Amino acid sequence: MKTMELRVTVNGQPREWVIAPGDLLLDVLRREGLFGVKRGCEKGECGSCTVLVDGQVVNSCLMFAAKVEGCEVLTIEGLADGGRLDPIQGAFLDHGAAQCGFCTPGMILAAKWLLDKNPHPSDAEVREAMAGVLCRCTGYIKPVEAVLAAARQPAKRATRKRRPAEVAP
Ligand code: FES
Ligand code: FES
Repeated sequence: MKTMELRVTVNGQPREWVIAPGDLLLDVLRREGLFGVKRGCEKGECGSCTVLVDGQVVNSCLMFAAKVEGCEVLTIEGLADGGRLDPIQGAFLDHGAAQCGFCTPGMILAAKWLLDKNPHPSDAEVREAMAGVLCRCTGYIKPVEAVLAAARQPAKRATRKRRPAEVAP
């Protein structure tokens, strides 16, 4: 099988992985143990596989891994700072915004993308930003409330300390 080297920064760490040219980013990330990247529809429809590539929301099931050569990839595993949750993660906990949790990594990363570029979004802007991540438990209201709360209290959230929840494969 033909292979190639992939040099990429994942969650702040430089990585060198051997991949096949046709490998999808979703498959490579999960193969490397990043199980917070969820395998859902594999058609670009559910958003479960959402990651940020150079700060942009990407459905990793639709992107060849080779395309992220030299890029920075952020998955849910890279969001907490040691034992300190990202403000959005804390707000999801506070608001009970996860049910089974399958969609939660994608929702939180979509929210991070939004708050990074628009720290004070409206309710409608939050809903629009998260519309690409489907929740099969149909929990949409609490995630929106959580993102709005994270936007309202950045200073408080930045000082919170709590261990991140484990992300099941
Ligand atoms: S698994 Fe990628 S969008 Fe559904
Ligand atoms: S919390 Fe179950 S899929 Fe959204």
